[in-house]
Amino acid sequence: LWLALGIRHRQTGEPAIENGLIPYLGCALQFGANPLQFLRSRQKKYGHIFTCKIAGQYIHFLCDPFSYHSVIRQGRHLDWTKFHFATSVKAFGHDSFDPRHGHTTENLHQTFLKTLQGEALPSLIEAMMEHLQDVVLKSDTLCPDGDDWQVDGIFAFCYKVMFEAGYLTLFGKELGEDKCRNRQAAQKALVLNALENFKEFDKIFPALVAGLPIHVFQSAYSARENLAKTMHAENLSKRHNMSDLISMRMILNDSLSTFNDVSKARTHVALLWASQANTLPATFWSLFYMIRSPDAMKAAQKEVQQVLRDCGLKVDHDEPMLNLTREQLDNMPVLDSIMKEAMRLSSASLNIRVAKEDFLLHLDNQEAYRIRKDDVIALYPPMLHYDPEIYEDPYEYKFDRFLDEKGQERTTFYRNGRRLRYFYMPFGSGVTKCPGRFFAVYEIKQFLTLMLAYFDMELLDPAIRVPPLDQSRAGLGILQPTYDVDFRYKRRLNH
Ligand code: HEM
Repeated sequence: LWLALGIRHRQTGEPAIENGLIPYLGCALQFGANPLQFLRSRQKKYGHIFTCKIAGQYIHFLCDPFSYHSVIRQGRHLDWTKFHFATSVKAFGHDSFDPRHGHTTENLHQTFLKTLQGEALPSLIEAMMEHLQDVVLKSDTLCPDGDDWQVDGIFAFCYKVMFEAGYLTLFGKELGEDKCRNRQAAQKALVLNALENFKEFDKIFPALVAGLPIHVFQSAYSARENLAKTMHAENLSKRHNMSDLISMRMILNDSLSTFNDVSKARTHVALLWASQANTLPATFWSLFYMIRSPDAMKAAQKEVQQVLRDCGLKVDHDEPMLNLTREQLDNMPVLDSIMKEAMRLSSASLNIRVAKEDFLLHLDNQEAYRIRKDDVIALYPPMLHYDPEIYEDPYEYKFDRFLDEKGQERTTFYRNGRRLRYFYMPFGSGVTKCPGRFFAVYEIKQFLTLMLAYFDMELLDPAIRVPPLDQSRAGLGILQPTYDVDFRYKRRLNH
């Protein structure tokens, strides 16, 4: 009977197990309702590691930060590719990138590192700043109405500004667009349409990762395919100033894979999603918390003014063009801390590895546990991010939490007097760490810098409570707020 119900028994040396009450789903509903609370209660009961059945899958949750290393380091027992490749196929519908499946010989991980890090960064930064300034200061994306206060939701504002600038940075602009107004309007409509399709598709992303087929969600399916249509090779080839990320994708799809045209287009949709799905809510939380904290605003404004002064840049409303280099952006510890603290409070990604074979997992306290082949081991960083032993008053936003006494980046955090190697993980860990993390931080910093340099901003209701996190996306990255918060902004007059 146990076998028929798919229920597993704990064997000697294995972590404690919870099968849950519902066949197949196991503990999925309790976990989904509030993952942090669920995991904390089980940690109290079972200790550093325990196993839960969630939607048919047995997952070992490792909760001791001092033992994270044994999962994060690239050991021979653990596979990170299986889960990632499979998830991307389920959500985006392209053929598999796993070379073992025979559709491509590309090393995707290497492609990401080459096109998103190191030498690829300066041109991404430059393009993003140009597009951000176009969107925020020149175009009619925001109401251009001169010097009056404009009211908008912070979430809505961040989505339209960051999506448009990020989209153009990755996919470039259509050739000849600058010269012709009709073409400009068509391009604007294309980006706005892409945003609507992105949001429609993104809504059901958690369901796709959970294994539901996309055909169940007709409008989300259409949205994904509409996005893909705009990314067919013949459409992309009309664009110029495309990022290396996308142009390399086109070349490698053509040269190393047997993907058909639809599959190729869907790989671009996957990149659009990866580049926006976390960045947009992270931008919201950074701007929201900054505006809400008068001390944060003051410190950030001071830092931005200082950096602009040091670089000899002037805020000119008539001919706006601020260009900050990578080094200058690196030298903004206050904005870094403002963003880090916002992401500490809003990130909820699961870090997943799959056991390649039966093996013994060694914990920091000398205990060892038997893990079976194909089992999943998961780390849930909010357990660190909300740990009062690591972060005092963990539910409070403290903009300077990641600054040391000298006002520089704070890199040492302790638990029970012991220094932690892992204390901040919104971008994942080890080999699966987000390859776009450097660009993500730069682009949000560029956005905040522009907002601080050109606008006065305030919340409509300064006493407004922090909107709760939408837990339906827990496990997938930066969570969205359950509702938007209004603010008003006004172009500052030339000094
Ligand atoms: C993967 C976070 C922005 C590109 C990931 C993962 C996380 C993450 C948690 C999965 C890591 C894992 O599975 O362990 C974030 C956050 C961002 C952000 C918090 C913004 C605040 C970006 C941007 C880009 C990007 C701007 C590209 C322009 C990617 C790609 C992957 C990825 C390509 C898949 C990597 C792979 O499967 O090998 N990101 N990300 N991300 N991210 Fe980001």
